[in-house]
Amino acid sequence: MSEGLSPRQHQRRTKIAPADAEGVRAAAQMLRRGGLAAFPTETVYGLGADATSEPAVERIFAAKARPANNPLIAHVASLDAALEQGVFTEGALELAKRFWPGPLTLVVPFAPGAAVCEAARAGLSTIALRMPAHPVALALLSAAATPLAAPSANRSGHVSPVTAEHVARDLGSEVDLILDGGRCPVGVESTVIEFLGRPRLLRPGGITRREIEAVLGERLHEEAGEGPQRSPGLQKSHYAPRARLRLEAQDLRAGEAGLDFGGAFEGGENVLDLSPSRNLKEAAANLFAYMRELDARAPSCIAVAPVPREGLGEAINDRLRRAAAPRPHNRFP
Ligand code: TXA
Ligand code: MG
Repeated sequence: MSEGLSPRQHQRRTKIAPADAEGVRAAAQMLRRGGLAAFPTETVYGLGADATSEPAVERIFAAKARPANNPLIAHVASLDAALEQGVFTEGALELAKRFWPGPLTLVVPFAPGAAVCEAARAGLSTIALRMPAHPVALALLSAAATPLAAPSANRSGHVSPVTAEHVARDLGSEVDLILDGGRCPVGVESTVIEFLGRPRLLRPGGITRREIEAVLGERLHEEAGEGPQRSPGLQKSHYAPRARLRLEAQDLRAGEAGLDFGGAFEGGENVLDLSPSRNLKEAAANLFAYMRELDARAPSCIAVAPVPREGLGEAINDRLRRAAAPRPHNRFP
């Protein structure tokens, strides 16, 4: 185990393991002993810990420098496992049956006697639950045989990771093991829906508003705005690269890098097109990787072409808006 290691020693011992049977076994063992293991999901990489262990969960908050009032999603291997932790209304159950495993997180009242610890829930009376649709995540959940608390495996406020290398760059010295399962296919985080009273969209994500409303047969309440926050993770500034972002850009200015959509810019070395064919699924899958890639070139500013707002465009525009929001200070020198 890693107790008593200096940060430097820790870094040397951080392992990226292929997400094969042996890697999954090693990660599950690490998690059962209270360690931190990063793993791929269909949306982004998660930084996992045993959700029932207060000390393990506290390591997540420390590793990410995440405010303790921002609750974590508990990942589960099955709907049955979720029903042990949360009280599902009929609507929540319908959504789980239709979209799990998949990029959907349900916030419901915490079940009496449930095992997920208070630190993971940030002391709330609710719990966020999700069954991910990634073979590695599901294998790990089964092998660990416990719900896994797992936020995105980036430093708090930074761009979410979609490769093992992104995780290593942000958190390499803090994680005991990173399972490398390649690039995450969806590329934006799960949609978060709260079921306390009328269903409310807390965070747009990999399942679209329209798909959810079609199953529920009713409109979703709007996402939490500013003010007293129902979802403490939804700070205005988030997903932020080092460079400033200029949204809805029609052209590229001198010194800018370009995050294009559908060939709006002229092209050039410092331009990456999220989807030349204007496919929103492809754009979502490329979003965070391209933001990181352009940022690594240290431009003064990243100009972002307009992206349509319908379908997955709602989640993409949400992430872009937060990435462009003014920041309290430069957190990622
Ligand atoms: O796709 C995803 O959801 C990824 C992968 C790893 O599963 N996870 C993820 O976790 O995005 P995180 O911690 O980066 O975002 C979780 C969001 C935060 O905005 C948090 O505030 C909110 O869910 N959340 C968690 N528990 C909540 C609760 N009880 N009530 C309201 N919001 C909650
Ligand atoms: Mg996150």
